[in-house]
Amino acid sequence: MTTPTLRPEPKRLFIKTYGCQMNVYDSERMRDVLRPLGYQPVDGPETADLVVLNTCHIREKATEKVYSELGQIKKMKEASGGKMTIAVAGCVAQAEGAEIMRRQPAVDLVLGPQAYHKLPEMVARASRATGDRLETEFETLEKFDALPKQREADGPAAFLSVQEGCDKFCTFCVVPYTRGAELSRPVDDIVVEARSLAAQGVRDISLLGQNVNAWHGAAPKLEGGGEWGLGQLARHLSKIGGIDRIRYTTSHPRDMDDDLIAAHGEVPELMPFLHLPVQSGSDRILKAMNRGHTAEHYLDIMRRMRDARPDMALASDFIVGFPGESDQDFEDTMNLVREVGYAIAYSFKYSPRPGTPAADMFSHVPEEVKDERLQRLQTLLKQQQTEFNASKVGETLPVLVTGKGKMEGQAHGRSPWMQAVHFDAPESLVGQIVDVKIVGSTMSSLTGEYAHVVEAA
Ligand code: SAH
Ligand code: SF4
Ligand code: F3S
Repeated sequence: MTTPTLRPEPKRLFIKTYGCQMNVYDSERMRDVLRPLGYQPVDGPETADLVVLNTCHIREKATEKVYSELGQIKKMKEASGGKMTIAVAGCVAQAEGAEIMRRQPAVDLVLGPQAYHKLPEMVARASRATGDRLETEFETLEKFDALPKQREADGPAAFLSVQEGCDKFCTFCVVPYTRGAELSRPVDDIVVEARSLAAQGVRDISLLGQNVNAWHGAAPKLEGGGEWGLGQLARHLSKIGGIDRIRYTTSHPRDMDDDLIAAHGEVPELMPFLHLPVQSGSDRILKAMNRGHTAEHYLDIMRRMRDARPDMALASDFIVGFPGESDQDFEDTMNLVREVGYAIAYSFKYSPRPGTPAADMFSHVPEEVKDERLQRLQTLLKQQQTEFNASKVGETLPVLVTGKGKMEGQAHGRSPWMQAVHFDAPESLVGQIVDVKIVGSTMSSLTGEYAHVVEAA
């Protein structure tokens, strides 16, 4: 790859991101790798020179959305006289590869999640209409090594990918096939990236991974060597000046070790909010899902978390209508939800994915039963979310100001529990942590009154 040092001709780049936060992070890194070539982000695909769809394969609907979007973009390419380059990246690219170009010939490039560092080279090849247009090899660390070390921060909260891939093979899930084996980035690389973000004013970092709490790595020699887990990494990152808030997502119950739980009691920067998907409250279904934990194991983690940090709030993911799920299995899920009391949770109808073991299981649940269960679950979860938000009314919370609101003098921010907070405050406070007295709440946000700036710890 050559990086031109002379000012390159400006080009317009549009990236549309689907799916999880890993994809959001990857899209940012694609922008980073294309910037030296003159690519500047634009708001829509119509006039773009390069359109990248960063796709998600997790449920059938997510995949189908990509093909309908491609149909629209094809028309724009035709209107541009064929000058537009269309790239499909992400998990659909990894799963379907060349099939995408067969289904939609207007697509110029297909590249899987481990190939983003090769994007400039592939775009150049596409414009010469020669060479490979498909790149779906798994070489995760090579990608991280080859991407620019410096990040361009976009606001005071940022994602930082520390782990990729999954070895868990839950029977419903495509991720192990689209993201490859579990792999952890080395401590030094993570620290360099975190420092670069902090230097640009980032104060709230979300460490990302498909199984982020499976992260492990060799401790730096100065720190005494040995092997670190995510708890130690969090302790280390909390010492970087400017980083006031550390989060991590998404975790797996099987990797929730004692040290990570203990770290929540010791490191004030570790935020009291944990996204720990459980998927089901029925041990029978958890077994068929190959989750490797029981409902009781999950509840035990939750209790220990709340012992370590009493204000700990939990988030989760649920699947309803997994093959063989009975009324009683579903009631077990409802009971688990009642016992935990979630701050927020995401719930989905089971979607059979080609190539996964569950797709071939017997006794698929009828669609109308799935619908009915999803509705009941979501009603309960929405009620809990509304109650959780309401429980903060009257409290004064430290809120990170993330941007200005729609109207003059308005601002929005983020509470320690990831709640969106709206309040009146000058734009000059963006990037600071301020005390906000919460005066109102809805299911999706809080409103408050700005009190004063919180001094850094
Ligand atoms: N690594 C994370 C989440 C991965 S995908 C974890 O282990 O929890 C995000 C969520 O999508 C999952 O938690 C699950 O609830 C949902 N999901 C995954 N595959 C699905 C499928 N086939 N049908 C419906 N929902 C699914
Ligand atoms: Fe998918 Fe399970 Fe891996 Fe999560 S742990 S990414 S749900 S296979
Ligand atoms: Fe979707 Fe891939 Fe993320 S399938 S949820 S974009 S890891």
